[in-house]
Amino acid sequence: MNTPASAAPARFASAFITLRNNAVTRVAEPDESSETVGGDVFVQAMRGAATGVNIVTTDGAAGRFGLTVSAFSSVSAEPPMVLVCINSRSPACKAIHRNRRFCVNVLSEAQRAVADSFAGHPATGRAYDFGVASWTVSQTGSPILDKSIASFDCAVATVIDAGSHSIFVGAVKDVTSNAASPLLYTGGSYRRAGNKL
Ligand SMILES: Cc1cc2nc3c(=O)[nH]c(=O)nc-3n(C[C@H](O)[C@H](O)[C@H](O)COP(=O)(O)O)c2cc1C
Repeated sequence: MNTPASAAPARFASAFITLRNNAVTRVAEPDESSETVGGDVFVQAMRGAATGVNIVTTDGAAGRFGLTVSAFSSVSAEPPMVLVCINSRSPACKAIHRNRRFCVNVLSEAQRAVADSFAGHPATGRAYDFGVASWTVSQTGSPILDKSIASFDCAVATVIDAGSHSIFVGAVKDVTSNAASPLLYTGGSYRRAGNKL
């Protein structure tokens, strides 16, 4: 039997957010009194999750920026929408806010060096240097990484502030895709995809 939303425990209340016509509706106020786990326990548990690795880029009046991001997800197919979560202190976050556009580039296993560079710790050279790879310009003006597995060129539809991060929901304006093996990340290291189960 389905449990009606009104019967949900109060400590889950802040989870109910609806997205309609690009507007954010908080169905219930956050329950400030509920306890959360410690940040270190949370980070340790998250290390076990396996994700893809992506470079989120933007360009425009606020400048050109890129950042390595694992927090990327499909949101909607009709219309096509995706989301990325970006630390609000990052210069890329402020630039996406102002440029109102971003592109998610899904990395292949051959692009580990680009991931390191845009995570701020390249093996050689300068961090966040677009010269580390070849790029083209997307329909909306953000950099597309050559030979990435896929790129999702987005206009910012909605921004949700969530703790230390901003969630950018993007309306997908254009895509590219290439057949290649994805770069993965788990347990604090990069991995390649193994055999089919
Ligand atoms: C595999 C990987 C995934 C990451 N995912 C995210 C993410 O989803 N969101 C985010 O804001 N930063 C993410 N980061 C962190 C940023 O890429 C970057 O390292 C961070 O902003 C610190 O940069 P700094 O060392 O120059 O200060 C990730 C880093 C790595 C290596």
